[in-house]
Amino acid sequence: MLRFLNICKTYSEGQQTRSVLHNASLELASGSFSALLGRSGSGKSTLLNLAAGLDRADQGEVWCDEVELTRLSDHQLALFRRKHLGFVFQFFHLFPTLNVEENLLLILELAGQAGGDVQSILRRVGLWDRRRSYPDKLSGGEQQRVAVARALVHGPKLVLADEPTGNLDQENGQMVLQLLKEMSQERQATLLVATHSSEVAEAADQVLRIRQGGLVVECS
Ligand SMILES: Nc1ncnc2c1ncn2[C@@H]1O[C@H](COP(=O)(O)OP(=O)(O)OP(=O)(O)O)[C@@H](O)[C@H]1O
Ligand SMILES: [Mg+2]
Repeated sequence: MLRFLNICKTYSEGQQTRSVLHNASLELASGSFSALLGRSGSGKSTLLNLAAGLDRADQGEVWCDEVELTRLSDHQLALFRRKHLGFVFQFFHLFPTLNVEENLLLILELAGQAGGDVQSILRRVGLWDRRRSYPDKLSGGEQQRVAVARALVHGPKLVLADEPTGNLDQENGQMVLQLLKEMSQERQATLLVATHSSEVAEAADQVLRIRQGGLVVECS
């Protein structure tokens, strides 16, 4: 479903270049849940950004089903993301000027599904009663549950999450992880979660680790 073929990514800062990913390859089966591990600075966020088409690789190919993302223009990538991608960030990144319900309605509209159902998914994450609240009035766990609902409301085939439980206490982290996992499964979305948490790794079907710029499958 998601495939990386020999991806290389180098960042330059002034005179210095830093090779982050070197011939990294991976394959995620449709509907699977994979955890992405690696020490801080190993390239997990870089890899998610490449998978989302938010950044471009120097070399190699990224495929999502039959579409080669590495060949799309910026505009085509933006359209692809609106329809097929959900992203959950470590720091939630909800739209601060929109209430909970509007945060989801905007995503539906961008995906060409204006008028779609937000009630059932907000009930699912336990926040229908808070639909008129603005993000700054919600707790961290509540904001992240909205972010999970927002990442899935338009039925994307690929869901990427960058340390989605990194800023939550144990209990809220567990709840967000369960919701991400169950809701992705129900919608047959492919889920890739970058994490430092052994609990996330244990819940996944497959564990990938970035090591010296390459990707190794640790268990599946
Ligand atoms: N725009 C950039 N310019 C220069 N270097 C960058 C840039 N973005 C990331 N890097 C570097 O690339 C490396 C990988 O960064 P990345 O954010 O992908 O790591 P990570 O595995 O997500 O780490 P963490 O677990 O701390 O979130 C780091 O050394 C980082 O400093
Ligand atoms: Mg990161």
